[in-house]
Amino acid sequence: MDNTQMKDIQWFPGHMAKTRRLIQSNLSLVDGVVEILDARTPLSSRNPEMDRLTAGKPKMILLNKCDMADDKITTLWIDYFRTLGITAIAVDCKNGKGVKNFLPVLKSKVLKELLEKRNAQGMVGRPIRLMIVGIPNVGKSSFINKMAQSKRAKVEDRPGVTRTKQWVKIGDGAEMLDMPGVLWPKFDDQTIACKLAFTGAIKDDILDIESLAMTLLANLAENYPEVLVSRYKIEISAEDTGYELLDKIGRKRGMLISGGEVNYERAAITVLDEYRSGKLGRITLEKPSDFTGGEN
Ligand code: G4P
Repeated sequence: MDNTQMKDIQWFPGHMAKTRRLIQSNLSLVDGVVEILDARTPLSSRNPEMDRLTAGKPKMILLNKCDMADDKITTLWIDYFRTLGITAIAVDCKNGKGVKNFLPVLKSKVLKELLEKRNAQGMVGRPIRLMIVGIPNVGKSSFINKMAQSKRAKVEDRPGVTRTKQWVKIGDGAEMLDMPGVLWPKFDDQTIACKLAFTGAIKDDILDIESLAMTLLANLAENYPEVLVSRYKIEISAEDTGYELLDKIGRKRGMLISGGEVNYERAAITVLDEYRSGKLGRITLEKPSDFTGGEN
């Protein structure tokens, strides 16, 4: 991915310290950890410290926003996590797709041993308690809302207002901690930072929007060229840089300023908005083989 023009997106270490405290102070209260990842960027949206932070607890991964991801690649990711010994399922917490699989899979696979042990010890009826973690905007609240048995009031995160810890009943004797662990992504790698920005996980106001759109276009030209051709009705060649693609799109859409120059900012905002709202189709930005060097 060409991100040479990206200005550095900084990672703030203070967030990680807060995350560690939050997770560590609540970990002893739960039987398992549910980690929510964005199906379009499963590894980039995963904090690499997660396994260490939650060591010793059974873990399940939800590949959320699967409605916006490429189905074939989502399947590859589920296989990839299986090779790491982690059970993952695809979900769409906006529309509820796949959410009904969560509890059966959790109980029959992820917490199987624990539940058998409890049964053997006669500890029947004890609730299963879970912690939900994931980076901002990945869909933690949407998941809890879909699972909650009764309607939850939206609790605002206002400074000075302390949220008390609450357990939300999600059926089948399971409860979730209603205090999602905000897990900041670790993005000292600029490629990861770009992918998080494409999906809207990092706010635009800290970014150079034109460079970002050019980087996204270069990624799409490599992996989904047909999408650019059909959406923007442009011709593309293998040599096109992100800049040239943005230029072509701006011209095709008539986004010009005086002198016939393309209004690159407007074109960039359009491209990013259309990607984020799913108008470009179901696009996944990374495959397991990008990390393992395999063929998939
Ligand atoms: P968070 O608690 O982890 O911060 O995330 P939250 O649930 O608030 O979700 C962030 C945004 O992502 C919301 O959109 C939500 O609707 C959307 N979202 C969550 N899960 C899915 C999913 O599976 N598919 C899709 N397509 N979107 C999902 P928003 O624009 O902030 O709000 P709104 O659209 O719900 O009004």
